[in-house]
Amino acid sequence: MVRAPGRTAVLARRGVGPTAGELVHEALDRAFAGSPAPAEEIVALDAGCGRASALTAYRARIGRFVGADIHAPAPDALPHLDEFAAVDLCSEADAFPPGSFDVVLSSFTMEHFADPPAALRNLRAWLKPGGRLVLSTVNRRHPFVWAYLAIPPRVRRPLQRLVKASAADAHPIVGACNDPAAVRAALEDAGFSAIEIRTTGHLARAWGRHLPTYVLGLLGDLGARSIPSRRSTIVAEAIARHD
Ligand SMILES: C[S@@+](CC[C@H](N)C(=O)[O-])C[C@H]1O[C@@H](n2cnc3c(N)ncnc32)[C@H](O)[C@@H]1O
Repeated sequence: MVRAPGRTAVLARRGVGPTAGELVHEALDRAFAGSPAPAEEIVALDAGCGRASALTAYRARIGRFVGADIHAPAPDALPHLDEFAAVDLCSEADAFPPGSFDVVLSSFTMEHFADPPAALRNLRAWLKPGGRLVLSTVNRRHPFVWAYLAIPPRVRRPLQRLVKASAADAHPIVGACNDPAAVRAALEDAGFSAIEIRTTGHLARAWGRHLPTYVLGLLGDLGARSIPSRRSTIVAEAIARHD
């Protein structure tokens, strides 16, 4: 997250493309527009919700808004939700009945999953047939992301705290399904169709709390700007197949 307006202007001037958040919002616009559920009755899940959700922008169109995360939030930390469920998305297939949701968002979660294919199978089962999934994650085909993921966890944890807003945001990273082809294959295997994968340079924004990490991120974003498969961040959207 970049707080200095000057840094944001530099990113725009240098042609570092849309933010991951902008791509997620575009995908969510399509998900809400394409949902067969009547407007204002959409049942939405933020899977791995943390403390902030891009779905809050759609709150007026959501009839029931559920958040799920492996970590229970502090009391009153998620006032935008109707319901919170403490769930390991990888292993708790029975957390929600099949066909519970019209729209599922899973934002910057995949890199943390111990078993991403299982998590995607669960999300697919919890979606109604024709329901829409939007997910974002990091792309290990970017050399900086690859290097970051290759660092042993005991060294990476203090580094993570440098670029994250707080220690609580520095979740352990696995990176088991983190390139565009692997995300596409896992979505197909899990029973999704109409899969669209986009990438963008998001390092300068993600690492922008401190000037040295911001500059490093900017160099990383500029270096991969013209190679879509190597940009730092993946945003995917897909539709739960009718069986
Ligand atoms: C980087 S945070 C992203 C939070 C939020 N989605 C956002 O975009 O700000 C990753 C989140 O995934 C959650 N998470 C990681 N592994 C999980 C799992 N197996 N099941 C459920 N949640 C998980 C973490 O607890 C954390 O809240």
